[in-house]
Amino acid sequence: MEDIVERELRERLAASDYEIELRPLDLGGQVMLHCDLPEADLREIALSLRSCFHVIRHVAFLPMAEPEPLEGLEADLADLEIVEMRAASRFRVTTQRSGEHEFGSMDAQRIAGAALVEHYGTAVDLEDFDTEVRVDAIDDTWLVGVQWTRTSLDRRYSWVYRPRVTLRTTIAYGLLRLAELPAPTDTTPTTVLDPFCGSGTILVEAASLRSDLRCLGADRDPEAVEGTRANATALGLAGRIDVREADARDLAESYPAASVDALVTNPPYGIRLGRRTNYTDLYRKFLSGAVTVLRPGGRLVVLVGKRRAAFNRAVREIDEVDIINVRVIEIGGVYPAVFVLKRA
Ligand SMILES: C[S@@+](CC[C@H](N)C(=O)[O-])C[C@H]1O[C@@H](n2cnc3c(N)ncnc32)[C@H](O)[C@@H]1O
Repeated sequence: MEDIVERELRERLAASDYEIELRPLDLGGQVMLHCDLPEADLREIALSLRSCFHVIRHVAFLPMAEPEPLEGLEADLADLEIVEMRAASRFRVTTQRSGEHEFGSMDAQRIAGAALVEHYGTAVDLEDFDTEVRVDAIDDTWLVGVQWTRTSLDRRYSWVYRPRVTLRTTIAYGLLRLAELPAPTDTTPTTVLDPFCGSGTILVEAASLRSDLRCLGADRDPEAVEGTRANATALGLAGRIDVREADARDLAESYPAASVDALVTNPPYGIRLGRRTNYTDLYRKFLSGAVTVLRPGGRLVVLVGKRRAAFNRAVREIDEVDIINVRVIEIGGVYPAVFVLKRA
């Protein structure tokens, strides 16, 4: 979803001078921004991004020394200026690794931590720190930075109902962006529907993103319907999200024809419904109702888990939709696909 981050950044940075690099060092899921905004302004923008989980201020790329990469790291950190370390009272180092290395993340953290203690005289505290230095090992490069986010930006809401299978808010934002929701007209609001709403992540994100959206949700599980309502109420969005108990296989019976501008959803992942569920049938019925309730030109954005071949087959049986784009994304070690379809 790096392109979604890029789109959001371009909107937020408007007239500033900047360059955006997707996947620096081939790192999936990372976007690098080079810009000359004052740090306070940049912080304000970066820490309110909806498309990102974490924000790191880049400090340096350090080539790994061979054959002793950890010794090389120790020497490099002895000379490296990290401004935040001057003001830090307690810090920690975290390391993520990608590629083949003879050392583990813990070894890198230990060596880097000791080198920074030596350099700045600041104490390490793994729990109660005010500065987090990232020393990531990416193939043959050390990527050094200071993490600005303490908790993930994804945790932007206080949920009162949160079952086990929920979508991450940042991904919900990405799906909504891919839906390219139109502006409302003088007479009709823009309507977005999530017919497998679960706890309502997509609806909550949509309602907080744009105050001019009409957000409709449904789930066949009454607990999910109540839970979504409770979440909407707790977040002050009760009047903006309209949820009902309904089966996504009968959409045309639940909503008027051509009444929805975009349908954004993530059907069951295929784990909880059990082996007996006929996904081809579920997807066929869902899609046939979806094309009825969608306005011509409206988008259908669906995050599909394990059964994407069945979804793909069902899509190809329906003449009224064009496939705009299919992408596989990574969410915590799981690789679902995002289908972006358009009602003809
Ligand atoms: C993957 S979860 C959705 C999670 C949701 N995006 C969230 O963040 O909480 C799928 C949801 O689909 C619902 N569901 C399963 N089959 C359904 C059907 N035929 N019609 C409507 N909802 C259904 C389940 O009850 C579950 O809440």
